Amino acid sequence: MSSPNHILSASQFSQDDLSDIFERADYMQAQEASRDLRRQKVGTYAGLQLISLFYEPSTRTRLSFESAGAKLGMGIISTENAREFSSASKGETLEDTIKVISGYGDVIVMRHNEDGAAAVAATVSEVPIINAGDGGNEHPTQAVLDTYTILKEVGRLDNLKIAFGGDLRFGRTVRSLVRIMSSVYKGNNFNFIAPPELQITDDIKKQLKESNASFMQTQDRYEGIEGADIIYWTRLQKERLTNPVDKMAVDKALMAGDYNLDKSVIPYLKLLAKVLHPLPRVGEITTDIDSLPQACYFPQAHIGVPIRQALIERVLG
Ligand code: NCD
Repeated sequence: MSSPNHILSASQFSQDDLSDIFERADYMQAQEASRDLRRQKVGTYAGLQLISLFYEPSTRTRLSFESAGAKLGMGIISTENAREFSSASKGETLEDTIKVISGYGDVIVMRHNEDGAAAVAATVSEVPIINAGDGGNEHPTQAVLDTYTILKEVGRLDNLKIAFGGDLRFGRTVRSLVRIMSSVYKGNNFNFIAPPELQITDDIKKQLKESNASFMQTQDRYEGIEGADIIYWTRLQKERLTNPVDKMAVDKALMAGDYNLDKSVIPYLKLLAKVLHPLPRVGEITTDIDSLPQACYFPQAHIGVPIRQALIERVLG
């Protein structure tokens, strides 16, 4: 048996891969309009099972993957709280769990609290593993849907000024998206806006330097977003901080609202800028922003379904 096609990191995609995925996502969306085309699609995947194995909370990623699988006509087997309700709570290793459940279906969509868990799962799985977020490391399918959103909203993926704000240290969606936007597409430059405890990490800076992408870091949201074409905002992930001193500093920043996109940022937003957020937001984009033409985060979340249909199709071959 040939080895399965996994999706583990955003770094694995070339520009051609992404163009193919976007084309298939366009097709998936067009298919929605025709009942006959929807029936054809379901025929191809009937009898296949998608297993969703989530060790961490999720709303969009899990449900959009399950929706994508169902739209393709697959059966869905799901555990939404595997840390508590799978044999992990009895001390079973991830490797053993994967060896067993890879015999129950055709693709495993997995979210885990530990960095690198999806790669570990892939070493023992008989079926494709799709990384739906591993700790503070990567979230490649979110990065693909973010890239597609940028293409749809702005019309290009190169020579953009992109401001990332919030938690850039543990924000796995940021880490994966920066990889794609700096190494696959050229001429993009990056502003990173975060408290010092949550700034972009050295591995990502190294990648930016290798790609010759220019970037700056700041704590000033106004300076960071001014003139940006894309503003990608995220929540400060306090739950991933272990150091109490860092926790206090982040609490202070949260109380002060220094990393919020609120009314005060409106004069600094370019008219044609687009504001993205992987969601969930917990106050860091206030509802004042929702009705602006720049706000894109809800359409961005919806694009998750056709993109994930295209990604499931891709790993199943
Ligand atoms: C994020 C995640 O889980 O990494 N959400 C998502 O998948 N859309 C962001 C977060 O938890 O803040």
